[in-house]
Amino acid sequence: MKDERRDYSKDLLREEDLSSDPLTLLQSWIEEARKSELDPTAFVLSTSVKGQPSSRVVLLKEIRSGQLVFFTNYQSQKGMEISLNPMVSLNFFWASAERQVRVLGKAERISAAESDQYFYSRPFESQVGAMVSHQSETLSSREALDNEFEAALKDKSTLKRPEHWGGFAITPHEIEFWQGRPSRLHDRFQYQWTEGRWEIRRLYP
Ligand SMILES: Cc1cc2nc3c(=O)[nH]c(=O)nc-3n(C[C@H](O)[C@H](O)[C@H](O)COP(=O)(O)O)c2cc1C
Repeated sequence: MKDERRDYSKDLLREEDLSSDPLTLLQSWIEEARKSELDPTAFVLSTSVKGQPSSRVVLLKEIRSGQLVFFTNYQSQKGMEISLNPMVSLNFFWASAERQVRVLGKAERISAAESDQYFYSRPFESQVGAMVSHQSETLSSREALDNEFEAALKDKSTLKRPEHWGGFAITPHEIEFWQGRPSRLHDRFQYQWTEGRWEIRRLYP
């Protein structure tokens, strides 16, 4: 590990490459990551309560009206933590593009109608999976989960989006774009939402 290092030289990020809206640039980096990444929309979501952060990977499903939307179980660890403290941190990392994006923002639940729309657009098995999973609770055995899943698969009439499953929309107030460069002289630009507009500054690597 100590000797593992490489130079980053895939691309560079110049002032003129920046869009006035950072979510436009994020969207274009995701589109470019599609060419080489298996999960281009995956990001690490960090929540924090009582000074103890916790992180996990989730998938970005939409960028809309200046917000980033993902879906989960509201009663999961992350869901409970967001209800206690809606301030979250996101981290996108695309190794193949030598790029990272960090986001600070505030999460809120989206409407039930919007969650319904996405829930029923998912494959049937995924809907059933979301229904039977008490995400983050103790599970007695794999078999218990498989049995619950099989039973629910057979009875289509009971299929319904659980009220505790839905989307969160994150409103960002700080976004940083990082492009790896040779000799650790990486390009970093930070957007900060200040007095109703995005202010941009370059950061030392
Ligand atoms: C590539 C990848 C994508 C994932 N996408 C989601 C997702 O969109 N929503 C979700 O709730 N969990 C997703 N997970 C699972 C989470 O990382 C996590 O295990 C789960 O949500 C429970 O987290 P919690 O106990 O902190 O609430 C994904 C995991 C991976 C590795």
